[in-house]
Amino acid sequence: VKHFLNINQISYDEAYHLIKRALLFKTDAIYPRYAHKVLANLFYENSTRTRISFELAAKHMNIDVVNMDLAHSSESKGEEIRDTIKTIASMGINIAVIRHVDEGLPHTMSECAPNTLHVINAGDGTHAHPTQAMLDFMTLFQYKPNLSDLKIAIVGNLKHSRVANSLQAMCKLFQVRELALIAPESWLPNTLIYGHMTTSLQDGLHQADVIVTLRVQHERFQACDHINLSDYRRDYAITAESIKLAKLDAIVMHPGPLNRGVEIDSVIADGPQSCIWEQVKNGVFMRMAIIEKLFEDEAPSLQRILV
Ligand code: CP
Repeated sequence: VKHFLNINQISYDEAYHLIKRALLFKTDAIYPRYAHKVLANLFYENSTRTRISFELAAKHMNIDVVNMDLAHSSESKGEEIRDTIKTIASMGINIAVIRHVDEGLPHTMSECAPNTLHVINAGDGTHAHPTQAMLDFMTLFQYKPNLSDLKIAIVGNLKHSRVANSLQAMCKLFQVRELALIAPESWLPNTLIYGHMTTSLQDGLHQADVIVTLRVQHERFQACDHINLSDYRRDYAITAESIKLAKLDAIVMHPGPLNRGVEIDSVIADGPQSCIWEQVKNGVFMRMAIIEKLFEDEAPSLQRILV
């Protein structure tokens, strides 16, 4: 793997290996160390979890980190992002982690990147968020490893969710038994990667082992969606009442950030069925495994010292 851009670029074996590796990092705390490597975070959209977890992942592996100050970079003077990418690669940066509102931009950047630079997609518009889907499946391996027996339900704005798109691709890769995509009519996805759609929370959560609830994205709210927030909450929020629609031992996941009291109640987010904080923890280990994979697939001359 040269760049990590989308779930559909990796095989089942590669995804399985990455998850196993991340789980091993978590239990053994033995990490590879990469001297003289540098990772740059280029977040053109806000982030807490993804940006910090890439920074921590890199630091655990002795990789230097540069957090680009985009407000004061030369792009504010009109420099094209492709020239920013070439500039940072020329200075010796090995990995560019990019989050951008434009769908496909990390892919475009990977095509113009010099050979020495790996590009990781940290979320591109409403298109894909592959490292999030990987950490979500790492969490499933921990709590619900029988993937071919599982019913997973994803609830929220599926039409505009890069998280849901990448999760659908992972469910397809691992042939999850059933995937229910639950949303009001105007938030159902235009295209289906895997699973089936329903507007009924009751139908979608019936016999579900895993509930993934998505953030109501106020920044992507569109007038044409005709969504009323209090109606959405009444019909689709995960609450002490609605969680009873799923199996008794169902787990609840959420990519964050949370809108408490909108798509999820605190009693659920902080309750015994929540795996939300474990997802956040797993994000660091999963990103370490992805970084390791990019370096391992380089020429074998690379310096890798196990400690
Ligand atoms: N899940 C996720 O991408 O969170 P951040 O926006 O905080 O990175």
